[in-house]
Amino acid sequence: MNKNTLAAERLAAGDLRSDLDLTSAELRTLLHLATEVKAKPQDYTHELRGKYATLLFEKPSLRTRLTFELAVKQLGGDIVVSIGMIGDREPVQDIARNLDRWTQSIVARVFSQQTIDDLAKWSRVPVINALSDVYHPCQALADMQTVAERCGSCKGKKLAYVGDGNNVAHSLLLTGAKLGMHVAVATPAGFEPNATIVDQAKVFAAENGGSVTISNSAKGAVTGADAVYTDVWASMGQENEAEERKRIFAPYQVNRALMANAEKDAIFLHCLPAKRGQEVTDEVMESPQSAIFDQAENRLNAQKALLLMLMR
Ligand code: CP
Ligand code: NVA
Repeated sequence: MNKNTLAAERLAAGDLRSDLDLTSAELRTLLHLATEVKAKPQDYTHELRGKYATLLFEKPSLRTRLTFELAVKQLGGDIVVSIGMIGDREPVQDIARNLDRWTQSIVARVFSQQTIDDLAKWSRVPVINALSDVYHPCQALADMQTVAERCGSCKGKKLAYVGDGNNVAHSLLLTGAKLGMHVAVATPAGFEPNATIVDQAKVFAAENGGSVTISNSAKGAVTGADAVYTDVWASMGQENEAEERKRIFAPYQVNRALMANAEKDAIFLHCLPAKRGQEVTDEVMESPQSAIFDQAENRLNAQKALLLMLMR
């Protein structure tokens, strides 16, 4: 890989605070690199030699934590981990300026997006959002890699998201729109995605030949979809609303009847963990259409590409 290619692969924003930190062109470069890293992992085993990433987790995680650890290690680097609330014992601005003296990037899963933004503001090393209340950009990267693999491309494809207008929905809206997808989101009334993010996604869609539709009709969103996506109805931190949400969201379950409205060979996507029998049936999770474990696999590949574009 020559120097020019490396320069072209560096993310201008220097952080991944949200999906907004990636331009369409950078997104395409990242997904291309993710495909290369997946095909030839042995060519990328020394890229982060001598480099460390800090993993900060305020919330539980299986996929994100383990795939970041594996990604850094398989690229030749190493990690340190801290679990617990960030900012309780000392301010985020001090934490950031400790971590950037020791390690070459900070990967953080937080309750509040403000914590990510503050870490990025005060740290001299790249900060990666490993999920906040507003965004889950690393998930969307793996999802787009999965759609491209299973559907041939992202551009021009219809992605239906059914359920809560949450962090995962926001990242899919922004990243899908930047790749020229037709993103249709259906939620119960009152659970729509953030209006500002929807407006941003509409601009990106217009620039890239895609579209964004927000409605309360699960059937309308799924009709003609190439990929159907759902997520839990109550996210981490909303456990006390879970029972009420079960009632409100019941008509938005992804089941065989709803999937029948999608394209015949449509794929089913879920970031996991799933509540089987709530937002999705066992039958759909286990069907040949289900690409959920490809998504999980691609967390590793997409994050390797991201780390290369931020840390190399
Ligand atoms: N999809 C996802 O982020 O999974 P974890 O919460 O297990 O990291
Ligand atoms: N929306 C979910 C995603 C988990 C990966 C949550 O925030 O809990």
